[in-house]
Amino acid sequence: MTPLIEITGLTKTLTGQGEPRPILTGVDLRLNAGESIAILGRSGSGKSTLLSLIGLFDRADGGSYLLGGEDITKAGERQAAQLRSREFGFVFQRFFLLKHLTAAQNVAMALVNGQGWLSGKARRDKIMNALDQVGIGQLAKRRPALLSGGEQQRVAIARALVREPRILLADEPTGALDTETGNLVIQNLRSMTERGCGLILVTHDREHAAKMDRVLELVNGKLQPAGVLV
Ligand SMILES: Nc1ncnc2c1ncn2[C@@H]1O[C@H](COP(=O)(O)OP(=O)(O)OP(=O)(O)O)[C@@H](O)[C@H]1O
Ligand SMILES: [Mg+2]
Repeated sequence: MTPLIEITGLTKTLTGQGEPRPILTGVDLRLNAGESIAILGRSGSGKSTLLSLIGLFDRADGGSYLLGGEDITKAGERQAAQLRSREFGFVFQRFFLLKHLTAAQNVAMALVNGQGWLSGKARRDKIMNALDQVGIGQLAKRRPALLSGGEQQRVAIARALVREPRILLADEPTGALDTETGNLVIQNLRSMTERGCGLILVTHDREHAAKMDRVLELVNGKLQPAGVLV
């Protein structure tokens, strides 16, 4: 089976105001369809940087990146933008919902770009389907201000799912949630892999990490199997 993602020797040096700082020094990562991977690592170790390279928001300095077997290491911005909207769903720590839109309208925003033409009914079906998948179909018409943190995060997950991505990238999606709601969100994300979706979850929570198929840790700019979890 061709892996969804095959990354070898990825490097990234960030140049802020001071000296250039090597953040990633040779990351190897393989993600198969239906597989879930947790990435642990200290604050500042480069986890978000790595996710932004995987999600093609930014480019690596070196190494190679195969997506579904295709070498996209040198993909141009146009191709990267296409792949970003076609292949990936993103869930962030802050939900980034638009306040003046309802849950359903927020999810619809993800359908605006790159989906070709869809009839009104097809759009509504897709949106409701995504909200139902995370168990909040009944809240479709609410605005974020009237939703709990966990419900807002699930709207954000529905927004990531509505494009039926092959890969879900989640960067500390439970950081702002209480334990119980956080567990629910992790369950929701995890269940997506049953449909063949690949999942990469960045988290500080070792219990959440332990629910994934594999747990890796970013140390000194490289990914390694994580030690004892809980
Ligand atoms: N645009 C930038 N320019 C320079 N340095 C940056 C830039 N963005 C992030 N950094 C630095 O790169 C390092 C890695 O940042 P990153 O956000 O990837 O860490 P992280 O593992 O996600 O941390 P956290 O767990 O706190 O979210 C940090 O030391 C950060 O200060
Ligand atoms: Mg981060």
